[in-house]
Amino acid sequence: MTEPLFTNDEEFDRPRLAAHGPVRVRVPAKINLHLHVGRLRGDGFHELTTVYHAISLYDEVTARRGDTLVLTMEGEGTGLLPLDEDNLVVKAARALAKHTGNDAHARLHLRKQIPVAGGLAGGSADAAATLVACDQLWGTGLSRDELAGIAATLGSDIPFLVLGGTALGTGRGELVSPVLVGGQSWHWVLAVADEGLSTPEVYRTFDALGGGSAGARSGPPDVLLAALRQRDPEVLAGALANDLQRPALHLRPELRDTLDAGMAAGALAGMVSGSGPTCAFLAADARHAAEIAADLEAGEVCRAVRTAIGPVAGARVL
Ligand code: C5P
Repeated sequence: MTEPLFTNDEEFDRPRLAAHGPVRVRVPAKINLHLHVGRLRGDGFHELTTVYHAISLYDEVTARRGDTLVLTMEGEGTGLLPLDEDNLVVKAARALAKHTGNDAHARLHLRKQIPVAGGLAGGSADAAATLVACDQLWGTGLSRDELAGIAATLGSDIPFLVLGGTALGTGRGELVSPVLVGGQSWHWVLAVADEGLSTPEVYRTFDALGGGSAGARSGPPDVLLAALRQRDPEVLAGALANDLQRPALHLRPELRDTLDAGMAAGALAGMVSGSGPTCAFLAADARHAAEIAADLEAGEVCRAVRTAIGPVAGARVL
């Protein structure tokens, strides 16, 4: 069903040599094919059982040698996102430097296509990319498991973005193990909202609306794993589930119109992605995805529409 974390580590078996030229790392967005929220824990996080799925919507972090730590950016969120110590990219670089005893010296540039606060883990993706980029720039040569360990201290879904693919997430989401589902590519259409949603607020609303069951499910949902193996999008459509959809719709009722529009355009399934507000629609194939995307673009139910395939690899040096 699942295999141990990060068994295939060849790509990370690099010599411990610092890079002289720029290191460019590409990192995907994620959706959750299944997101079961369990009890609220004493540390303020909820127990999760989730199936993460990395999709081909990418951010890029480029790391160059420098005398201090500097972050610049372009694309989604420019002018809105802080570029100081509050940015997850800066936090990730500092965390790796501290862990390895290096100076946190780098000039980092972020090219963002993943919407900010969209339920696609864009900020987490950037942190994952930074860990991989600085590891190479500084020649610290950490294994993927070690990078995932640092990632877990920075955010719940950052370890998954180091890994990529399709993976089971447990704990607060930071414990990930790959799900073996074969080589099938799934086709997705994403409807990006005008304004983001705050993840903590969506979780708070989940609790206010009645909260999760006493115990999180311990294993992945069999119906979803079977659907992934059957390679039939109609079957997968029936197995998608997200406990955070209800609170997201409560906070942003107009997302119902977006979901309805996607289904009216012929999507096999539609759901809020993670904590939202991006809506993800499953298509039968690439042409079907393009048709759904064109229909959604013609309507007025979202800011932007993207198509993507999944699963794809996690943060990787280009
Ligand atoms: O781990 P991350 O920084 O992404 O979490 C952001 C917020 O989302 C947390 O501060 C918490 O309010 C909420 N959260 C949660 N349970 C989780 C993951 C996140 O309540 N398993």
